[in-house]
Amino acid sequence: MRIRQILAGEKGLSRTDVIGAVSFVCKMTKEELLRDIDSRLDEATLNAVKDCLGERRAGKPLAYITGVKEFFSESFFVSPDVLIPRPETEILVEEALKIIGTGGNRVSVLDMGTGSGAIGIIVAKHAGSSVVCVDISAAALRVASKNARSIGVAGRTRFVCSDLFGAIKEGPGFDVILANLPYVAASEWEDLMADVRQYEPRGALYGGQRGVEVYERFVRDLPGRMKSGGHVLLEIGSSAQAEEIGGMLKGIGLTVNVKKDYSGTERVLVGHG
Ligand SMILES: C[S@@+](CC[C@H](N)C(=O)[O-])C[C@H]1O[C@@H](n2cnc3c(N)ncnc32)[C@H](O)[C@@H]1O
Repeated sequence: MRIRQILAGEKGLSRTDVIGAVSFVCKMTKEELLRDIDSRLDEATLNAVKDCLGERRAGKPLAYITGVKEFFSESFFVSPDVLIPRPETEILVEEALKIIGTGGNRVSVLDMGTGSGAIGIIVAKHAGSSVVCVDISAAALRVASKNARSIGVAGRTRFVCSDLFGAIKEGPGFDVILANLPYVAASEWEDLMADVRQYEPRGALYGGQRGVEVYERFVRDLPGRMKSGGHVLLEIGSSAQAEEIGGMLKGIGLTVNVKKDYSGTERVLVGHG
């Protein structure tokens, strides 16, 4: 069977998913795949493609099938132990890089709830800063540290297993603290896409009954962890959370700005000390 026939014949999945699955099995880039669209696949390759498409049809996210996801133009390993990095998280990274700069400086940075390491690793790479990456999940940290090695920032990143700031020894605090902690409320759980609910780690998504409980604990511990004149950037999920979590940051004396994502949703809170 030719690649073109597979792409045309698969009706139940998006073209992006089918191209992603076929290029993964054939070890080709998407550009190579489209260039060689009239090549024939041998039987073993065709069977592997069918298995892959079957898994995707059953709901498994493509990134968990291929084991990789692109974020900020870098290839990150992902496993079901980590949240698949989302495009909207790039907004937090862009805002962080505006604050830190890209000149290889001495700013100390903490990435709280690092997961695959997406935020901290990109900041370490582009800003040249040292980044402490924290997660409550040891399995997630294993994925993150593999990513740090493959992206070439192992020397500038350190991985700490901790419930929020509990095991963080650094004093006198950090210049910049970044966090994408769980923020889905109990009432929103059933509205998540089935693929997300079924396959992505609940501990990476569920923020408590009201959705803000993890951030509430985080903000309570923030004073003393952030240097005076420092900055905190948090990913959030709604205007209500911008109001509520933004209010918590103001309550500890920070000035707060809100950044929207490309769909107009309040996505990042930027607090300045
Ligand atoms: C929404 S995911 C973000 C992952 C990654 N930073 C990203 O943006 O793709 C939240 C992460 O926070 C971690 N986490 C949840 N509760 C935590 C806690 N109490 N302390 C530290 N990390 C926590 C989860 O294990 C998960 O990796």
